[in-house]
This record gives sequence, structure tokens and C-alpha cells, in this order.
Amino acid sequence: MPIPEPLLRIENLTIAFPPARRGGDEVRVVDGVTLSIGSGETVGVVGESGSGKSMTALSVLRLLPEPGRITGGTLHLGDTDLLALTEKQMRGVRGGRVAMIFQDPMTSLNPVFTVGDQIAESVRLHRGLGRKESWDEAVQALRRVHIALPERRASQYPHELSGGMRQRVMIALALASQPQVLLADEPTTALDVTVQAQILALLDELKRETGMGILLITHDLGVVAETCDRVLVMYSGQVMESADARTLFAMPSHPYTQGLLASLPEMAPEGATRLSFIAGQPPTSGAITDGCPFRTRCPKYLPGICERPLPTTRLSDSHLVRCHLYGEAAL
Ligand SMILES: Nc1ncnc2c1ncn2[C@@H]1O[C@H](COP(=O)(O)OP(=O)(O)O)[C@@H](O)[C@H]1O
Ligand code: SF4
Ligand SMILES: [Mg+2]
Repeated sequence: MPIPEPLLRIENLTIAFPPARRGGDEVRVVDGVTLSIGSGETVGVVGESGSGKSMTALSVLRLLPEPGRITGGTLHLGDTDLLALTEKQMRGVRGGRVAMIFQDPMTSLNPVFTVGDQIAESVRLHRGLGRKESWDEAVQALRRVHIALPERRASQYPHELSGGMRQRVMIALALASQPQVLLADEPTTALDVTVQAQILALLDELKRETGMGILLITHDLGVVAETCDRVLVMYSGQVMESADARTLFAMPSHPYTQGLLASLPEMAPEGATRLSFIAGQPPTSGAITDGCPFRTRCPKYLPGICERPLPTTRLSDSHLVRCHLYGEAAL
């Protein structure tokens, strides 16, 4: 069977902020990230806070916070070169072919309109349907995300709904334009465990129905284990390890991935305490420019070697790791 073309391709993406003071260095917050998402595939991006996950997702929509800039690499949605589009064309892509959901649903929802009006407006805008059909589609969208009494809910305002229900409405709104790619930035982080599991199951179900690809950002490897086909582990703006999910959990190879896994209660070796393995904090962005950014915390640090540029080693077809333990210098 031919391998399907990826829907979204990010290659060698670099994002930087200008120097904080005159004569200083620009601050690279994303450094050489490459990833692709195919139809019906969920790709997880995992890493601690500040590792560049949100910046990577926002760059796909060209919505980086000022004065952040994409300083290198390419972004393609199918055949479309996203970096070559005009701002007007880009507005059609946002909330159209690519939709995004967040931890806080009120980032997407407008408090002064009913949820039905907001979804119907997106349907009208992106699919060109009339007023009545758009409203019917909005009710249908609420039904698809398993909201009971969707006709009644459609006439309510966001503040009248519970947190879990608002999350479902945000998903319904994101899917109203029938996106090819859904960027989900920590969509379940604020929810309790039961609601979190329901939302993840819902995303999976909707993905199967629509064939969309999902980029699922999380700092929680437990979430990845349940939902992702492939996983990228980011640290300090760089991808340290990537593999299909099964391989990553069976054979975590980068010391940082191993540390993250050891911090999962259900995966930790007997007697290990949560997060005991990765002591310390990630470096501030741009603080380490050469060699491995994890070396200040790495239990397997090789003095004199880990300061050198990181090698990329292919451990198997889908499994890449960037660490000197697997490079020539360590052999
Ligand atoms: N305005 C800014 N100027 C400089 N650095 C920034 C700015 N905004 C965010 N950053 C840095 O970008 C890095 C990546 O942030 P982000 O992508 O939000 O991380 P994550 O989503 O993985 O928690 C962080 O280290 C953050 O400090
Ligand atoms: S390159 Fe060195 S410091 Fe970095 S993870 Fe590998 S062993 Fe640790
Ligand atoms: Mg983030």
C-alpha cells in the first residue's frame, strides 16, 4: 500500500525572539523541529513547560506572540506552503483547514454569544451554508460531541455550562469547519481525570469519523500512552526522541524520556519517587546554545562529549534519538 501523503509537514522549524538587550543573542525557543501528521493520525508532543510545544503549534497558524518569529524551516499543509500565504489567505486557514483547541475553552468561546450562534457562524463562514442550515449544523455538532439536549444547549451562553461541557463546545466549534488538522494544546490539563478520559475518547472517536489528523500537545506522558500513534519528546525547543507510541514506551532511549517515564506513577520502578529522576529545572530559553541542553540535569552526562553538537541516531524505522550515548563519540 502506498504511504499516504502527510496532511501537515513541519521541517526544521526554528522560532526565535529578538535579543532582550542590544547586542545580545536572539533567543531560540524552537530549534530544528521536524514532524508530520497523516490523515487519521494522532501525533503527541510531550515535554515540560517551556519546551516550545505551544510555539510549535502556534507557528502552524502563524500566530506567534509578538515579537516571536519563524526564523527557519518550512510548514506545509498538503501542497500549501503556509509561509507563502498572504495574511488574508492565512485567515481562511485558521479555524478552517486547521483548527486549534486549548486548555481554557474561554480562549475560543465568546462570552456574549450563545454557543449555537458561535458554531453556526463558523459553519457559515467556512462552509458557506445559509442561516437555518448553519444553525441545524451547530445543533448537530453539539450532538456529535455528546452534549445532551443539544437544541436547548445551543441557545445557552458559555457561562451557563459546566467546565467539561464548555470543553465539548470548544471541540464542536473547532470541528464545525471540518478541519483537516486539529491542533490540541493541553486540551485536558485543567480537567479532572474522569472528564479528561471522556474528552480524549471523544477526540479519538471524532478523528475516526472525520479522518482528521491531530497534534496533541501535553506535558503528561499518561495522556500520550492512551491516545497517540506517534510521539515526539521535546526539551528546550528541540526534539530529543521520536517514535511510534508503542516503541517509545517499550524502549525509551533518551535519558530525558526515561526520566519522564520514571515520573509516571504507574511506570516508575519500585520505590522510585515521583520526578525524583529528573532533578533540576530546564535551562532558560537560549541559555545553552551548543551541545545537549539536557546535560545540566542528565544522570548519564559524558563530560567533554555532551558539549558537542548532538548526533541524530536512527534506532529503527520510526525511532530517532538525539543523544551522545548513541553517537559515535560514545562508542
Ligand atoms: N515573549 C517572549 N519572549 C521571549 N521568550 C518567550 C516569549 N514568550 C515565550 N517565550 C519562551 O518560549 C519558550 C517556549 O514556550 P512554549 O512554546 O509556550 O512552551 P510550552 O508550550 O512547551 O510550555 C519558553 O521558554 C518561553 O519562556
Ligand atoms: S547527550 Fe549527554 S547529556 Fe544529553 S541526554 Fe545524552 S548523555 Fe545526557
Ligand atoms: Mg504550552
